[in-house]
Amino acid sequence: MPAYLIGTIDIEDTEAYSLYRSFNPSLVEAAGGKYIIKGKPVAVLEGSDFRSRFVMIEFANEAALKRFYDSAEYSSLRPIREKSSKSSLAVVNTDETASTRTAFQIQEFGEAVELCSVTSPLAEVGHDEVRIQPTLIAVNPVDWKIRDGILAALPFQFPHSLGCEGVGVVEAVGEGVKGFQTGQRVMAHSSLLRGGWFADRVDVPANQCSLVPAQIADEHAASLSVASLTAAQTIGLHEGPIGSALVIGASGAVGSIAVALLNNGDSRVDAICSASNSAYVTALGANVLPPQQAAEQEYDFVLDASGGPAIEAGYRSLAKGGTLVSIVQPVDEVRALENSAKAIRYSVQPNGEQLSRLMAEYDVLPEPRIAALMPLAEVNAALHLSKAGRVRGKILLKP
Ligand SMILES: NC(=O)c1ccc[n+]([C@@H]2O[C@H](COP(=O)([O-])OP(=O)(O)OC[C@H]3O[C@@H](n4cnc5c(N)ncnc54)[C@H](OP(=O)(O)O)[C@@H]3O)[C@@H](O)[C@H]2O)c1
Repeated sequence: MPAYLIGTIDIEDTEAYSLYRSFNPSLVEAAGGKYIIKGKPVAVLEGSDFRSRFVMIEFANEAALKRFYDSAEYSSLRPIREKSSKSSLAVVNTDETASTRTAFQIQEFGEAVELCSVTSPLAEVGHDEVRIQPTLIAVNPVDWKIRDGILAALPFQFPHSLGCEGVGVVEAVGEGVKGFQTGQRVMAHSSLLRGGWFADRVDVPANQCSLVPAQIADEHAASLSVASLTAAQTIGLHEGPIGSALVIGASGAVGSIAVALLNNGDSRVDAICSASNSAYVTALGANVLPPQQAAEQEYDFVLDASGGPAIEAGYRSLAKGGTLVSIVQPVDEVRALENSAKAIRYSVQPNGEQLSRLMAEYDVLPEPRIAALMPLAEVNAALHLSKAGRVRGKILLKP
């Protein structure tokens, strides 16, 4: 939907203003803008307050308008206009949804609870926050776990808007935000308590966002934040070098990235996965073993990204001084300590800077597997699909 930059201008220094006028139209054109009105009224029909010049410029949307207004080129021209004229400028957005947010929410926990779409007025974007219009949103197992109440011990407030990662375009930035501008492509993992990605607009603290490098397509950027941060942060929990590692659930989003990062760090990587995923995990560079055989090895680092009994192989094979991390189930710290090792149950933390560093190493990461692309309106079906476990790879939602 087009957005319009409208304004009144009273020129006070004709010579200086003509310098502004000689450059500005080309900047407007380069930003895709089109002058609709430029000049003074030819006749006054009613009232008397029509002495100013009027300007009205059309842009493709509000983000394109703000990109022009905030651009370095226009920012260097603006002081000439300010010194040579008195002007008032405003934005008119013809998109009726521009001042609202439509988000999929729950009012209570429960396996049978349906997410409902709720439209509400938008407040100003927070001081340190970035407002994003999502282009693609990823479904994570944690989304239905929150809905079901599995994480009810955390202080969720109702209504709660679900969705914790995706990619989109910056629509607005808070006054305290540095490093992000309207129109930029960004990706993020939002904290679980904040959520909010299953929506047409989501506000995310700027320090949880990363710019998306040009070579990363939206389908990949949408699904890399949670998995890459989780993999990197769990590996970072082990102090010292990792000579050998075991990844349980290596075929999943987190497990596959963990295999890649460990390989890149020169670790020897063994993996446990189902037979149907064995070829995929071998191609990632891991040595696939049955749990009984893995239990007979020795590992500095074990990641349980799958849950279930295979973790037993991890306890048995953990080297002295080693670290076992589960992102899925409780761990037995005492049992690990008896072997002078550590066992940690870990939850991923949003971190924009770390995400940017990981995206700079995009070539090292495995290409995310996309299992399904569905309209955001079908979010309940998408959660059902994720929970049923009948898909291999990420389910993406398109607003
Ligand atoms: N604590 C945290 O911070 C954190 C962060 C991210 C994810 N997680 C959790 O970690 C787990 C893995 O996450 P992910 O994003 O990597 O998930 P994913 O991409 O769906 O992968 C899960 C893997 O688990 C295995 N699996 C075993 N039984 C399954 C079933 N019934 N349905 C689906 N997969 C099954 C599958 O591999 P095989 O068939 O080869 O066994 C699958 O590749 C999830 O439980 C998720 O909630 C926790």
